[in-house]
Amino acid sequence: MPPVDVLSAESVVESNTESPLSEPLLAMNQQEVQRPTTGRVMQKPLRLLSGPGASPTVDRVPTRSIRYIGSKARVAAQITTILGSWRGRGRFVDAFCGTGVVGREAADLGWPVVFNDHLVSSVATASAQLIARADVPFQRLGGYEAAVDRLERLEGKPGFLWREYSPASATWGAERRYFTTENAARIDAIRDAITAWQVAGVLSVIEARLLIADLLAAANRVANIAGTYGCFLRHWSSSSLRQLHLGPRPLRLNRARFEATCLDVFGLATEEEDAVYLDPPYTKRQYAAYYHVLETIAEGDAPGVGGITGLRPWEHKASPFCYKTRALEALVSLVTRISARRVLISYSDDAHIKMGDLYSSLSLVGDLRIHELATIGRYRPNEQASAKRAAVSEYLFELHKARSQPSCVQ
Ligand SMILES: C[S@@+](CC[C@H](N)C(=O)[O-])C[C@H]1O[C@@H](n2cnc3c(N)ncnc32)[C@H](O)[C@@H]1O
Repeated sequence: MPPVDVLSAESVVESNTESPLSEPLLAMNQQEVQRPTTGRVMQKPLRLLSGPGASPTVDRVPTRSIRYIGSKARVAAQITTILGSWRGRGRFVDAFCGTGVVGREAADLGWPVVFNDHLVSSVATASAQLIARADVPFQRLGGYEAAVDRLERLEGKPGFLWREYSPASATWGAERRYFTTENAARIDAIRDAITAWQVAGVLSVIEARLLIADLLAAANRVANIAGTYGCFLRHWSSSSLRQLHLGPRPLRLNRARFEATCLDVFGLATEEEDAVYLDPPYTKRQYAAYYHVLETIAEGDAPGVGGITGLRPWEHKASPFCYKTRALEALVSLVTRISARRVLISYSDDAHIKMGDLYSSLSLVGDLRIHELATIGRYRPNEQASAKRAAVSEYLFELHKARSQPSCVQ
């Protein structure tokens, strides 16, 4: 098996200590291998409200292990320091929320938060970070822990995930090794049960979203991948052979004010007082394709899938920010259309748009400052990649747009 040619690497924060590089890879799509790093989390001591065995209710929820291309987990605190505390007006709009780590930090500074992403899986994952115990009583199921426990005890029930993303798929065509047959059948059973509870009116929207986020996190922990679902590994990694474990997460003690939408960013409405945070994709990696399996779990559907990786239709979510020729125009057009006057934009010097071009274009829209956030080491897997630059810097563009002039009426 030849080594995988890594095209480039982006910042991926994770706390999984097992190196994804310890296994030979089966490269399917153009894909990257991420460098394992550990996100440092400032955390208050957990406060247990209910009895032993209950998931803790906490003042500040610790960051869960979420591996995601372009996650800002390592710089989220720096970004929100620049944002500052809430002054009683406006919302923090995390318009490309991904894992939601930045919105979560903003909520801890008192901001009402809007999460938006065009991926259902991201919106569920981000929302779950701000859910408080009082938001999810799970009245008809005896509480959150009892609901999770019931799902955890379900027998596997072979369904779509089992058929398409476990070795069972060999019966119908290409063998896909994203999950073991046992874990895939359990994911199917749990996802089915959540849908059945929804249909029976047993769950509120937010309760369903929490359980789906728990299932996404659990599936991610046992997925046989090297960071994204752009390919699966040829050999089973040790984590993928573990049994899927759902487990309740710590929930917030204090309710956060937040909303979540799953819209194309160009359809997202903002208000003048809002602070809008933009963290668009920087490279050609289309998130809808790279996280297609998580998206299918979150949607709970059974789309027509194809190819070696069983890719679901994703082209309708192709992001203009992922095309070198369109990224700058798309970003400037988005910033110009946003009604909010304060816009914060994350960008990197290893991305489609050249920093100088971005600076020149954005400075025409308002007052602009650039903050350097961090320099992130790069994973260098081979000579070709080593020849490239050794580190990537992350920046935050802080833009104050001029107040729009009212037009004169004669
Ligand atoms: C760089 S990631 C955001 C990472 C996030 N800030 C975090 O810390 O996890 C970019 C996100 O933009 C989303 N996205 C890409 N194009 C989009 C679009 N046109 N509308 C809405 N979301 C989009 C992707 O699904 C992805 O989650």
